[in-house]
Amino acid sequence: MSASAAHRAAGDDPGTLLARLDAPRAADLPVHGGRTMAYDSGLPGTEELAAAAHARFAGVNGLDMTAFPSVVALENDLVGAAARPLGGTAATAGTFTSGGTESCLLAVLTAREHARRTRGVSAPEMLLPETAHAAFHKAAALFGLRAVTVPVDPGTHRVRAADVAAALTGRTALVVVSAPSYAHGVIDPVAEAAAAAAARGVLCHVDACIGGWYLGQLRLGRRS
Ligand SMILES: Cc1ncc(COP(=O)(O)O)c(C=O)c1O
Repeated sequence: MSASAAHRAAGDDPGTLLARLDAPRAADLPVHGGRTMAYDSGLPGTEELAAAAHARFAGVNGLDMTAFPSVVALENDLVGAAARPLGGTAATAGTFTSGGTESCLLAVLTAREHARRTRGVSAPEMLLPETAHAAFHKAAALFGLRAVTVPVDPGTHRVRAADVAAALTGRTALVVVSAPSYAHGVIDPVAEAAAAAAARGVLCHVDACIGGWYLGQLRLGRRS
């Protein structure tokens, strides 16, 4: 048997194929049990249910809503469910993305266009704490912004709002803060940084890729 025929034969057998995927995974850190920051609900059966639900839509292209109206219905449901704990109303608009990185990319693109149209900014900059997710550096490269990194407080790992305010220029298109940050899990001074940005007509994006879900729920449970 030739090498390519042997390769094809191995690929035809689902068991062999899955075993080839399982082998390198054995050296990975466990994603259950709290040792890594993973998306482990801790509820038995949840992961299997999510995988089965995901498989139902694996062949669907969400771009074509005439062929796949199911995706539009699901998107509307999800945007509504996400908006409610964040104080949104039935009029709140949103979009469903492929994940955190795409959401960050869209926020940067929106800010670049906003700065160009409202303030005529042609060489845009983005201010971001050094702890911000790498997705923002990808966005800067993709969309032609200069990333200006602001150091964080070495004790708290939170950016200081005064440092953000001092770094704002006429070219700033976007201020980024995290709630919480990907690697350190701390919440930047969102209100203060956003106020400093707003005072200069600059948009502020809160990266709440993780916190977007649970911070809203915590607020509901706060005692007055
Ligand atoms: C704060 C934050 N921003 C961005 C991302 C990027 O999300 P994704 O890995 O889905 O692209 C993550 C991922 O965990 C995150 O925690």
